[in-house]
Amino acid sequence: MNEQETDVLVVGTGIAGLSAALAADEAGADVTLATKAERPEQASTWWAQGGIAVTRDDPEQFEQDILDASAGTADPEAVEVLVENATDTVSDVLVDTLGIEFDTTGGEYDFGQEAAHDEARILHINAETGKHIHVPFLNYVADETDVTVREDTAALELIRHEGKVYGAILEQDGEWAPTYAGSTILATGGIGALYPRSTNPDTATGDGIAMAALAGADIEDMEYVQFHPTACHTESEAQGASNRSGDAAEGGTFLISEAVRGEGGLLRNGNGERFMPEYHEDAELAPRDVVARAVKTEREETGDVTLDVSGMHFEEEFPDLADKCAAHDVDWTEGIPIAPAQHFLCGGVAVDDRGRSSLDRLYAVGECSRTGVHGANRLASTSLLEGLVWGQRVGEDAVGNDIERIEAPELLERDPDLPGNFARDKFHRLRRVMDEMVGIERTTDGLKRSQSVLRRLKGEVDAYVRTRTSRSLYELRSASVVSLLISRAAAENEQSIGCHYLVEDAKPESAADAQ
Ligand code: SIN
Repeated sequence: MNEQETDVLVVGTGIAGLSAALAADEAGADVTLATKAERPEQASTWWAQGGIAVTRDDPEQFEQDILDASAGTADPEAVEVLVENATDTVSDVLVDTLGIEFDTTGGEYDFGQEAAHDEARILHINAETGKHIHVPFLNYVADETDVTVREDTAALELIRHEGKVYGAILEQDGEWAPTYAGSTILATGGIGALYPRSTNPDTATGDGIAMAALAGADIEDMEYVQFHPTACHTESEAQGASNRSGDAAEGGTFLISEAVRGEGGLLRNGNGERFMPEYHEDAELAPRDVVARAVKTEREETGDVTLDVSGMHFEEEFPDLADKCAAHDVDWTEGIPIAPAQHFLCGGVAVDDRGRSSLDRLYAVGECSRTGVHGANRLASTSLLEGLVWGQRVGEDAVGNDIERIEAPELLERDPDLPGNFARDKFHRLRRVMDEMVGIERTTDGLKRSQSVLRRLKGEVDAYVRTRTSRSLYELRSASVVSLLISRAAAENEQSIGCHYLVEDAKPESAADAQ
């Protein structure tokens, strides 16, 4: 692999990276879009179900819903940017440029309803909206723009000096070299790979956040890890049909969109009783964190929780989900077995309303960024929107910086082979710690203990990084850096709010401590 130069380097090909690359290309920049993904489904965007919220008659109410969902912690100015730009950006980019056809009924858009939205305002395509946006977007950028797309290419390290970023070291086929850029945009998505159950693909190892943190960028709100209450979860099913192809994935997990509850799906506990009305006046459409904790409690107290879809036309309304159930051997007529699963990180690289990080010429966009839109908890169907809107803003802003070269960090290859199952074993341990101690409910003691285990683990990984370079090792490094950031932020925040929920320390020492 040779050294390269580009005006704008974008890392990641979900909706945020694609939107940024498109905007920078349209502004006349030479753009390189690097992604470690080899297939579209290795980006979280592909997995998004519910849809993309837009403004209808009442933008102020949309803003209020976002603020309420965040328990009043979202940044009102960021929320205003999102809502002000929502409809026009969706219309310009998705509808007019990409030609995406959202579902309609009787010639009008069929706006969906999800929890904590005051009105139906969600554009969707069945419950597979992500896939139907992502694939045309990838094709458009590859075929209709001058963007250079480099697949199966991972960013390992940022090139930086004294608060300024000059590009990144990219790796492909085991070889690596610097790509120097006028601006570098991180769009690497979330952190699902840090938890045993997640609705994200395995590729979500937090790379952008880790690289930015190691380069000295400000990182914020990392304790706010959102768990989705209704992921279909079966203990023993074909891994091939799951989004978690990794060995450490726990059973098969796939999202059952909140839209199903929006259309009348009911949660029942192990005794067959509907329980959500006892937890919240909005019952199944209560804020996501409330439903997730209720599902966790009912699973612990009564056994399997199911989503009862018998009162709706499930197969007609959600044909893709019915197919997915069938592929996982789930008989949905008996109720869909569900469990909460890690879904989204509200925090990340702190950025402003143009996606600028605290480091010169480093931008972040999408799930790896923290714009302030989500605060402590995210309103459903605002993540694709945030990636799209901020992507446009970042892409426009990132154009016009000169490419400068400095000496790039030297990565070592003294002994490129990692011992046997090193990465797999460490990931397994890390996921157990995150699940048991930094999950839906946290205790002060547990968080303290998690930090000592994670610090140890990071030390072991760093020791290998000092003498070896491989993608899986760097992914593991990203995961260990980001896990520690989450656990530290959670330990420092003594207030239960949004996705960060503290309970009394009652749990016995966990097996994860001992390792
Ligand atoms: C869902 O379809 O339930 C997920 C939507 C979201 O997380 O925004």
